[in-house]
Amino acid sequence: GASVEVDISGLQPGEKLIAEWRGKPVWVIRRTPEQLAELAGLDGELADPESKRTSYAATPAYARNEYRSIKPEYLVTVGICPHLGCSPSDRFTPGPQPSLPSDWKGGFLCPCHGSTFDLAGRVFKNKPSPDNLEVPPHRYLSDAKILIG
Ligand code: FES
Repeated sequence: GASVEVDISGLQPGEKLIAEWRGKPVWVIRRTPEQLAELAGLDGELADPESKRTSYAATPAYARNEYRSIKPEYLVTVGICPHLGCSPSDRFTPGPQPSLPSDWKGGFLCPCHGSTFDLAGRVFKNKPSPDNLEVPPHRYLSDAKILIG
């Protein structure tokens, strides 16, 4: 079928696992309390903090919040840049890093044209990506299992 079941029971805070759904990489990221706390202060720097844009893929209603998720701890997102389809890399570590602002709080960097995303997959202002990272349709089957699709 088109749906994929993902077991998240072994995922530790600060870790990411990669599943595959319809040929696309889907990231499940378990965010730490510190990472979640950073998201609240970023709105002014983001192009679409409330995920209202629909140019790429509409964000499901249950993820149209600052965490872009059903449970704040877990981000489920497609690991493809909405600009031209490159694969953004993890830049979870805060602080100075090449190609990132000095006050970087953690997130993702697209190596192709420099779009940056926060740890909710929200794109920063004035970047080529026309949209936030896609949140695929998903739901929890239990605390340990997510159904994607
Ligand atoms: Fe990601 Fe262009 S493909 S910024």
